[in-house]
Amino acid sequence: MPDIRIAVIPGDGVGPEVIAATLPVLHAAAARAGARLDIREFDWGGERYLRTGRAMPADAVEQLRGIPAVLFGAVGRPDLPDHELIWGLIIGLRQQLDLAVNVRPVRSWPGVPTVLRRSDGIDLVIVRENTEGEYTGIGGRAHARTGVELGVEVAVHSRSAISRAARYAFELARGRRGRVSLVTKSNALRHGYTLWDSVVAEVAAQHPDVEYETVLVDAMAARLVQRPYDLDVLLCSNLFGDILSDLTAALVGGMGMAPSANLLPGGDVPALFEPVHGSAPDIAGQGIANPVACVLSGAMLLDHVGLPAAASAVRDAVATALRDPSLHTPDLGGSATTEKLAKAILAAVEDGPAT
Ligand code: NAI
Ligand code: MG
Repeated sequence: MPDIRIAVIPGDGVGPEVIAATLPVLHAAAARAGARLDIREFDWGGERYLRTGRAMPADAVEQLRGIPAVLFGAVGRPDLPDHELIWGLIIGLRQQLDLAVNVRPVRSWPGVPTVLRRSDGIDLVIVRENTEGEYTGIGGRAHARTGVELGVEVAVHSRSAISRAARYAFELARGRRGRVSLVTKSNALRHGYTLWDSVVAEVAAQHPDVEYETVLVDAMAARLVQRPYDLDVLLCSNLFGDILSDLTAALVGGMGMAPSANLLPGGDVPALFEPVHGSAPDIAGQGIANPVACVLSGAMLLDHVGLPAAASAVRDAVATALRDPSLHTPDLGGSATTEKLAKAILAAVEDGPAT
């Protein structure tokens, strides 16, 4: 099997910590599947911004061209404006690479305590439209010194972006429990979200084998907390997917547990894999970040580059490690370090059945 080229962007805060914990696990899983990962690391992020005025170079997308997959840690520094770094790196990459969907699987892990009375039985995926909605950057601020300052943020919803996200969600549901819930707010937001309702209804009609419902986002927020167990694929706009995926992460143990993939289905661009969480400056530098979200993002990467057995081996190793409370990091109520948990996951990959 040829070497598989992977780009790695550790970024800021806990980003480099969880990436350092993840790479040995991915190398080991790939090796057991007979493959080798050829890693190229990029120093993009806040430190580079301080040095050069840009979080990533102007030709970043060209530098990534030809590489099938990128593993990204997190971006954000308390001493720099958030929107500069977020737009200058992660939102910039999603938009410049036209990464249409953000896929965020959420599942219960035996042994991981949660805020819910029943902490098993959750297995859902958020499919978030990833290029427009409230995140196109169209808008402006005016009348700064008049006392009537205003800010305008334009939400953009196009038939093409909605339908490609919808098609992905329905195809995904076909390989799962066959249910799609569209999350909108079309009772109050009469233009963009009614377009979502009509476009997704058309895609639903082409997938009669998939059960389909529409749920308003506020009602979905409550339902996720009260009875998330029967939900399968949640199709969301960019903003709603962003918000609800932090909520769903919290249902299965917190931000340290939520992986994601940014994809252009059928497209010839790198896919980008990242934990849902940010740079967590409150715990950065202490060696206690939970590496699981990043490790599971790495498992999604292995699936994407054609190593499904390696991906399963990583997920099985995570499950094995999480059953042992002495390996839980502080966010899960334990006292293990990032390194201790990561080493246990690595050992479980190495000791697991051959792939
Ligand atoms: P955050 O996700 O970084 O942190 C929220 C909470 O979750 C904090 O209490 C943090 O300690 C905890 N947490 C996050 N990851 C964890 C992990 N691996 N293990 C244990 N606990 C973890 O979100 P926050 O605080 O809103 O943002 C911090 C910075 O990250 C900001 O600069 C923000 O703009 C940036 N950010 C970057 C993202 C990205 O790079 N994709 C996504 C979200 C935020
Ligand atoms: Mg977010």
